[in-house]
Amino acid sequence: MSHFENGYVQQLIHWGDEVRNKLVEERGINQEQVIEQLENWQHRLRNILHSNQPIAYEQLMELRNEGEQFLDEWSQNRSSKQPIAYGKRKLPPLPYAYNALEPYISEEIMRLHHNKHHQSYVDGLNKAEKALYGKNTDDKYLKYWLREQAFHGSGHQLHTIFWFNMTPRSSKQPHGELRTKMEHDFGSWQRFKTLFTNTANSVEGDGWAVLYWNPRSGMLGVQSFEKHQLFQIADIIPLLVLDVWEHAYYLQYKTDKKAYIDNWWNVVNWQDVNDRYKRASQLRWDGY
Ligand SMILES: [Fe+2]
Repeated sequence: MSHFENGYVQQLIHWGDEVRNKLVEERGINQEQVIEQLENWQHRLRNILHSNQPIAYEQLMELRNEGEQFLDEWSQNRSSKQPIAYGKRKLPPLPYAYNALEPYISEEIMRLHHNKHHQSYVDGLNKAEKALYGKNTDDKYLKYWLREQAFHGSGHQLHTIFWFNMTPRSSKQPHGELRTKMEHDFGSWQRFKTLFTNTANSVEGDGWAVLYWNPRSGMLGVQSFEKHQLFQIADIIPLLVLDVWEHAYYLQYKTDKKAYIDNWWNVVNWQDVNDRYKRASQLRWDGY
């Protein structure tokens, strides 16, 4: 077994531990069964490591894909699917370590971005929800709180998509049903990539690039959101989002937003985007 193979299998085992901890922590439905499968998978990985035999690249990828299914299971079965009372929104835990996206996104950025920036949107949204839906709503400030809800609510929900849209184990290109749909709608996945990249670069000031599913037209589309809440299209479902606020890259890339956007493609979690597409595309309104 080569040095690389050995290191990679060890990484998979370590990553399995992190997923297992999350599963134990959240005690969702059927989680025990998933934990057992995950432990069997880790057991097989340890056997491979101890045998010290060379391992084919394809087999490594198969093992990785198998491992990713546990993460999917975790994100789908999370107990957090219950309705959340007004003012009780929470910061979601990152599905990987803070340094996991290096060298493309530094640990320092990820910590500040998740702990400070995203947390402030959660706090702002909770404040707005309490003001709007609480017992002592003051109508004099209604417009103010509605603006706050739009800004912090969009900020919170976009960042939540963003964290799960990324992974240190990116397949680097889309696959499955999403890939087929992209090729149908955009001509090729490369054309989508160029359009999305240009959209991200076109954002003036703070905002997002977004790939979305449109339940009304049955088509995919690309849009920029200014700040979090402006330039939005009603009735669409974002599938893949890229944060191009300065806080997302400045500490590492300074003014080179373009380099950040180009590098970001290395950490896209296509498994997650495909999964969001499969679930979102089940929603279709009459086409107009
Ligand atoms: Fe952000």
